[in-house]
Order: sequence, then C-alpha cells, then structure tokens
Amino acid sequence: MSAREDSLRERVAELGPWFHNMDLGGGLWTAPDHFLGDYPGFKFRRFEPALPTDMSGRSVLDIGCNAGFYALEMMRRGADRVVGIDSDDRYLAQARLAADALGFDRVEFRNLSVYDVGALGKRFDIVIFMGVLYHLRHPLLALDLIREHVAGDMLLFQTMQQGADAVAAVPEDHPFHLPGTFDPPTYFDDPGYPKLHFIERRFAGDWTNWWAPNAACSQAMLRATGFTIEAQLEAEVYLCRAAPVPYADWGGATSVYPARGIGG
Ligand SMILES: C[S@@+](CC[C@H](N)C(=O)[O-])C[C@H]1O[C@@H](n2cnc3c(N)ncnc32)[C@H](O)[C@@H]1O
Repeated sequence: MSAREDSLRERVAELGPWFHNMDLGGGLWTAPDHFLGDYPGFKFRRFEPALPTDMSGRSVLDIGCNAGFYALEMMRRGADRVVGIDSDDRYLAQARLAADALGFDRVEFRNLSVYDVGALGKRFDIVIFMGVLYHLRHPLLALDLIREHVAGDMLLFQTMQQGADAVAAVPEDHPFHLPGTFDPPTYFDDPGYPKLHFIERRFAGDWTNWWAPNAACSQAMLRATGFTIEAQLEAEVYLCRAAPVPYADWGGATSVYPARGIGG
C-alpha cells in the first residue's frame, strides 16, 4: 500500500463515523459496516435511471449533502457545477476528502443551512433535497425558501414518511360541519388525509427527527410550496419541477398568510 493510500485510510478513520458509504478506490470504503447496508448506494441504484445520465451544462445544488454521495454522483454524470451545503462541518470535511480522493475538483462544499439558501444568489438546474425535511423544525419554510431562491427546474426530494401510503382526495374547502348537521367533519380521520406527525421526543434514538409526514402530506407540501410532482420514484422519493406559477399564488416564505388566503 502506498503512503498516499495509507494517509487516506487514516483520514477516513479520523473523520468517521460516516453516514455515506462510498468507494474511494483501492478497496477503501467509507462505511462498510453501515447499519443500512451499502447506503445510500443501494437506494440510489433503485431510482437513478429516472435521472438524466448526461448532466453536462447543468448546475446542481445538494442541500444537506452529508459526505457528498449525491453531489459526487452528479459530478460523475458530468454536471458543470455542483454545490453541496450542510450545517455540519464534520460531514463537509468528509465530503471534501471524498471529492479529493475521487479527483473531482469542480465541486464545492459549504457550511450553509437550508434556511440560508438565499445567500447562494442563484438558481440551480437540479436541486437535491434528500433526507433533510424531517430533521427541520420548520419544514414548510425550508421548501418555500428552496422554491423562492434556488429551484431552477428539477427537485429530487426524499423524506422519511410514516402512516398511510394511501392518498385521499381532499376537499377544495373544509366546512366546519358535515352538511346539514353539527357533527364534525370526518376527513381528518381518513388515513390518507395529509398528516404531518410531530415527534416531540426522539425517533430511532435521534432527537433531530421532528416530523414524519404521511405520503399524502409529502405530496401536498410539495404542491403547496410551488412544485409539481412528476414521478414518485419510490415510496419516499419524488422527482419534481419548480411549478411555473406566479409566486404570489402560493404565498411563499415571506408572507405570513398565503395570498390565496387562510382562515376567515
Ligand atoms: C439524514 S442526512 C441525509 C444526507 C443525504 N442528503 C442523504 O440523503 O443521504 C441529513 C443531513 O442534513 C443535514 N442538515 C440538517 N439540518 C440542516 C440544515 N438546517 N441545513 C442544511 N443541512 C442540514 C445534516 O447535517 C445531515 O448531513
């Protein structure tokens, strides 16, 4: 083993534990004993055929990039410019090390919160927002900010989901009572009604898990923040486009009450 390989192996160990298992060459994997297996490679392989194979000419923003698995996959596909942002410096150091080991030099990793994406000052052809939403205390605000500031065309989105996979048709309006009665409406009890479950304490031992939408809620939140869902690539993964609607139609990050109105 060369001195370079030795020192790379040492750096990988120093920066561990890794959440992304990546092949850095020479038999060196970053998380070979990952509790989810070859993560996120096994997941990516299930939906990657839906993504453009040639990303040349396109820019990519990977929000909550962690050790850069998705950002580096976009580099592999020839993306012109890839920016990965995360709020955790150790993950960013992992991402820089992996990019360096794999010889990707047109990728940039920055410490930036999703709530500050406006500071990037540009839109990206592809925004990746995978595995972050349920870690946020303000998930709808994050989606609003992404749509307002950085979403140029495509959004690749994933969230943990809990509850029903069924998606109920929701009424255009929600009367207080069932027609002709004083009985409360029943739609909220439908398992397929959009529901965002609040996790006051820990989920899977992790106190950073705050919310778990059901499938209907993930989809409704995406629509309500100005995205159209093109495909549900697997249970929790959605391929979306920034919807071509005037921003005022869905309110947006900075309006307290969406323009279309809530309340009386
Ligand atoms: C479950 S990991 C998902 C990593 C990767 N996107 C994936 O799907 O494999 C969540 C990542 O989001 C990052 N994160 C959490 N809150 C964030 C925030 N406010 N802004 C940016 N990144 C955040 C965490 O540091 C972590 O790297």
